[in-house]
Amino acid sequence: MTSPTIAPAPPFRQPALPIPERVADLLSRMTLEEKVGQMLQLDARDDLADHVLSRHVGSILHTSPERILEARELTQRTRLRIPLLVGEDCIHGHSFWPGATIYPTQLGMAASWDADLLERVARATAEEVAVTGIHWTFSPVLCIARDLRWGRVGETFGEDPFLIGELASGMVRGYQGTGLGDPSAILATAKHFAGYSETQGGRDASEADISRRKLRSWFLPPFERVAREGCRTFMLGYQTTDGVPITTNDWLLNDVLRGEWGYGGTLITDWDNVGRMVWEQRVQPDYVHAAAAAVTAGNDMVMTTPRFFEGALEAVERGLLVADAFDAAVARILTLKFELGLFEDPRLPAANRDEVVGAAAHRELNLEVARRSLVLLENDGVLPLDPERTRRVAVVGPLADDAQTQLGDWAGGSGQAGWLDGQPREMITTVLDGLRSIAPWDVVHARGADILTLEPDPAGPTFPDGQPRPPVLHACEPDDELISAAVAAAERSDVVVAVVGDRIELVGEGRSTATLELIGGQRALLDAVIDTGVPVVVVLLASKPLVLPASVSRAAAVVWAANPGMAGGAALAELLTGAIEPSGRLPISFPRHVGQQPTYYNQVRGQHGDRYADLTQAPAWAFGQGLSYTTVEYRGVALADTEVDPAGTVVVDVEVCNTGARPVRETVQLYVRDVVTSASWCDRELKAYRQVELSPGEVRTVRIELAAAACTIVDASGRRVVEPGEFDVLVGASSRPEDLTAARFRIR
Ligand code: NOJ
Repeated sequence: MTSPTIAPAPPFRQPALPIPERVADLLSRMTLEEKVGQMLQLDARDDLADHVLSRHVGSILHTSPERILEARELTQRTRLRIPLLVGEDCIHGHSFWPGATIYPTQLGMAASWDADLLERVARATAEEVAVTGIHWTFSPVLCIARDLRWGRVGETFGEDPFLIGELASGMVRGYQGTGLGDPSAILATAKHFAGYSETQGGRDASEADISRRKLRSWFLPPFERVAREGCRTFMLGYQTTDGVPITTNDWLLNDVLRGEWGYGGTLITDWDNVGRMVWEQRVQPDYVHAAAAAVTAGNDMVMTTPRFFEGALEAVERGLLVADAFDAAVARILTLKFELGLFEDPRLPAANRDEVVGAAAHRELNLEVARRSLVLLENDGVLPLDPERTRRVAVVGPLADDAQTQLGDWAGGSGQAGWLDGQPREMITTVLDGLRSIAPWDVVHARGADILTLEPDPAGPTFPDGQPRPPVLHACEPDDELISAAVAAAERSDVVVAVVGDRIELVGEGRSTATLELIGGQRALLDAVIDTGVPVVVVLLASKPLVLPASVSRAAAVVWAANPGMAGGAALAELLTGAIEPSGRLPISFPRHVGQQPTYYNQVRGQHGDRYADLTQAPAWAFGQGLSYTTVEYRGVALADTEVDPAGTVVVDVEVCNTGARPVRETVQLYVRDVVTSASWCDRELKAYRQVELSPGEVRTVRIELAAAACTIVDASGRRVVEPGEFDVLVGASSRPEDLTAARFRIR
């Protein structure tokens, strides 16, 4: 009797074989339907059985552990048992996981100007995300924020391409860890490629009226940087440019990204981008043509357009696509799955996940990054508060104790996932909590104002694609009773901490604002408490730069806290009492008036005059600004050589002195001005920065070595070049001309 022979596992199931071989083998076994389905990422909150068994999806998003297990069980019933890639928006922490650590928003973290710190945040986030069975986060955002009316400014790293590239690279390194084989690595996504933020009037997802030269000059460099850093996936934005939706932008996707940059990663559309070409932008007559166009342009994964499946199949039937048109995309998706090792271990939710999610070490890191996210904008000397002389603090304002608003967008309370109303209240320290717990003073609290009320949109609860339509909001009128109570609290106190800002209904996708003013009764509240004469510390808890009322020029201090995360109130209390030193620097400029848009610092030279007839063009606070509790003097800038080769290095020494009585973490900023350019260019651009800690009285020479090759412009034909000639290095504490000291050099 011969013993039964066991058939060897097919090559794609053999982990010892090289990945390209496994991919080729699996691809050769897949039907057309299976290939088309592999390109789909669908919403796990819908009909999972249909997704997996009928549409053969390659990926799901927005899911709970139960749904992951259900989906796994369904894939096990399919012919080839190809594991799913599970994606989620883990934007500043594991956004929608109850009890996860929620950090400050990206814009808040950007104020730290510290890529290593952000790398640690992304690493800690990856650990929390990976144990919950999720393999892919749609983060970081590399959009350049220019029109502050846009609702998604708080998701960005601000206005400067160089800083964005540095910080985004840190986050990509953190998410992807030592490589996809590392069980705590998750896929990072650079989004939204490219120019999505260049909206018309701040209106979300409107036409991005942006030239190729402008893209190459400012919008593409951060993406190129993370492509080279090895960011494994790119998400395409919602925008059209020059009439072409990014989904079919052959120049950007194929000539630039895949061609010039040699990017071999995976592209994912944004939400229903393929469908939007049909029902929203109306540039495709139906889903057949839309699917064909998306595949032809080189998209790999199609997010939440279920009808892509039927559309693509029909496109093959009608001869709009050849049958192997899907192979390159499917191969890229399968490669990710093999590299993550999902065929051997589908990385399902881990049994020990409660030990990792919200771990004590992550909470500590969260406090550290919250401290670093705070920017002190004004201080007449009232801060740090003197605990000896401060017996009573009045904490006023509608955001002083609003735990979920403090977390901002992409967090428990922001609504995208729908399965949680908010993060656990006990994990969040509000400003009121923080001030109550930190010092031996009386705290009196008065809300002082309401912000807004909501009404259903008469146009209906959903958009044509089924996405919820935001409610219509009404700003509240100032309420005399609330204001009187706040004024009474102020008058009984030694200092007022007024916490004002925006709310989630004013922030995020489809929630751009026409104004940048504080909404509701907040302006009247500030006017009234400032009029009491009691020193007022304004804490601006706002997702993005807002315009403050004129009375704030009489406030004693102003601190911007963005959305500072779960530990925000604790960090703020430490800052106000001087337990920590303020060190945040603005990653974005603050306007004085909405009509000044845009106020970013690196604007192109050339206009008549330098002010509006009725207003200065100067921002209220500029990119790079931020105070400390001490004073810092920059004592001259010295160059090792004043002439360098294009391949050489400019060596810059600057003496920095802490001239005050408290320690400081100073961010020494280096900008470059190309004195004469062949095409119009901006007056100065950030090229490098260093953070140094100086104790009182300490003097340090900070050396920055700058490659002459970094001193480029994009010429009129769109080429990035170094143009020999004269340049200035400008070194100082912010992008403001008055904060910078210049030294001239020449590139031969
Ligand atoms: C749409 C948003 O634009 C994008 O940033 C997000 O990642 C996806 N939806 C998935 O939720």
